[in-house]
Amino acid sequence: MLWNSMEATSLRGSIYQLRELVSPCMICFEACGISRGMKMRKQVFSFFYILGFLWVFWVSDLVKVTGNSEGDALNALKTNLLDPNNVLQSWDPTLVNPCTWFNITCNGDNSVTRVDLGNANLSGQLVSQLGQLANLQYLELYGNNISGKIPEELGNLTNLVSLDLYLNGLTGSIPDTLGNLKKLRFLRLNNNSLSGTIPVSLTTITSLQVLDLSHNRLTGHIPVNGSFALFTPISFADNPLNGRRVSQHLPADVDIKGRV
Ligand SMILES: *[C@@H]1O[C@H](CO)[C@@H](O)[C@H](O)[C@H]1NC(C)=O
Ligand SMILES: *[C@@H]1O[C@H](CO)[C@@H](O)[C@H](O)[C@H]1NC(C)=O
Ligand SMILES: *[C@@H]1O[C@H](CO)[C@@H](O)[C@H](O)[C@H]1NC(C)=O
Ligand SMILES: *[C@@H]1O[C@H](CO)[C@@H](O)[C@H](O)[C@H]1NC(C)=O
Ligand SMILES: *[C@@H]1O[C@H](CO)[C@@H](O)[C@H](O)[C@H]1NC(C)=O
Ligand SMILES: *[C@@H]1O[C@H](CO)[C@@H](O)[C@H](O)[C@H]1NC(C)=O
Repeated sequence: MLWNSMEATSLRGSIYQLRELVSPCMICFEACGISRGMKMRKQVFSFFYILGFLWVFWVSDLVKVTGNSEGDALNALKTNLLDPNNVLQSWDPTLVNPCTWFNITCNGDNSVTRVDLGNANLSGQLVSQLGQLANLQYLELYGNNISGKIPEELGNLTNLVSLDLYLNGLTGSIPDTLGNLKKLRFLRLNNNSLSGTIPVSLTTITSLQVLDLSHNRLTGHIPVNGSFALFTPISFADNPLNGRRVSQHLPADVDIKGRV
């Protein structure tokens, strides 16, 4: 295919502009038709009517082939989840883009910026395709029954501001790749069953303001440098972490549960 995704995006816009584009043409040829007689007018009108229709079909076919990769990524998530309350009913993968789906927000370029599905009674697993939502800023999936691992591909969401996966049944370790999320301000993974050590890569996220890793099965030491200098033992409570945390605000041998 000669068409790249940018061209597809502009073509998608073109569908909506078609009506505005066609109407002045119709007016013009209507005027021509009047001066040359009724018969000629009708012929010209039919010709452009057919041409317009053909163009619409050609463009929508092109969009089907090249467009809606973000819709496909979200549909992969839907397919992997159990949804007893039918909150994902509006997620129709045959639409031009996912921007009209409930609990999805897009920017002006029809690219997904928010997924808001907190407390939606969803179970099942996350999918690696979520990493394809290049403009995603908020991934809100807290308070569900989501199990399995956090996909390392979430580290590709470099525009992410908030990753809220708390109160689920997630297992496995926290991916190192989350350290690539340089715009992240909120990282709440508390109340899951996450194991392994806390990735030191997270200390390099200078924008991080809120971190909650409490109520998991994390082991090893708590990093104290970089962005982690901000966080108190509350962020790490109720984990079998063995490290004693040195903090400016607390005595050197206060452990993660706040006991001396
Ligand atoms: C999802 O969208 C529905 C319909 O707009 C709304 O009622 C519900 O509150 C939304 N859920 C979340 C978690 O935003
Ligand atoms: C969540 O779904 C389960 C079935 O999987 C159902 O028994 C339960 O009532 C639902 N809870 C809510 C709050 O809708
Ligand atoms: C949570 O998900 C598990 C499977 O992952 C399922 O067995 C369980 O019934 C679910 N619980 C609720 C309340 O939906
Ligand atoms: C996304 O992340 C994975 C693993 O972290 C990587 O292998 C892959 O190449 C990335 N994909 C894109 C499109 O950047
Ligand atoms: C997280 O789990 C702890 C311990 O089970 C519980 O006390 C706390 O209320 C939970 N947090 C939330 C936000 O439900
Ligand atoms: C914190 O220390 C670890 C080594 O213990 C290092 O890998 C990491 O880059 C440091 N973070 C910052 C922000 O300097």
